[in-house]
Amino acid sequence: MSATKAIENIESSAVDQIAAQLNQVVAESYGLLGQLHLAHWNVEGTDFLPLHEMFQAQYEELFVAIDEVAERVRALGKYAEGGVKKLAEMSTVNEAPSASSASAKDFVSATLVAHEVVIEACVKGRKLAASAGDAETEDLLIGRVKTHQKAVWFLNSYLK
Ligand SMILES: [Fe+2]
Repeated sequence: MSATKAIENIESSAVDQIAAQLNQVVAESYGLLGQLHLAHWNVEGTDFLPLHEMFQAQYEELFVAIDEVAERVRALGKYAEGGVKKLAEMSTVNEAPSASSASAKDFVSATLVAHEVVIEACVKGRKLAASAGDAETEDLLIGRVKTHQKAVWFLNSYLK
C-alpha cells in the first residue's frame, strides 16, 4: 500500500493542517516536558517526595507520547518538527524561571497551566481530524486529552 493510499480517506486539503497541528502538539508538549523536569528537580518542602515522583511519572509518560504524535505526522506523509530551539520558538508554554526557589504550589500551578496549553492544542487537532475523517489522529488525540485532563485533576487536587 502506498503512503497516498494509506491516507486516501482523509480529505487531502486537511492533511497539511492536521500535520501542522500535530507538530504544534509536539512543541507544546516539549514546553510542558521542560517545566515538568524543572519542577521535578527543584521542588522543595514537606511534599517533596510525592511531587518529585508525580512530575517524573508525568514526564516519562509524555516523552513516550511525544514520539507517537510526531510519528503520526510521518504516517500522514508530512515531516515532524524537532530540535529544542525550533520547538521552543513554536511553543506557547510560559516558562518558570530556571533554578528558581518557587514554592511547591507555584510549581504545581505552572505545570497545571502547561498541561492546559497542551490540552488546548490537542483539542484543536482532534477537531480538525474529526472534520476531515481522520479517525486515527482523532483517537490519538482523544487519548492525549484524557491523560492531560487526569494530570490536571491531580494537580488541582493538590492546590485545594
Ligand atoms: Fe529524576
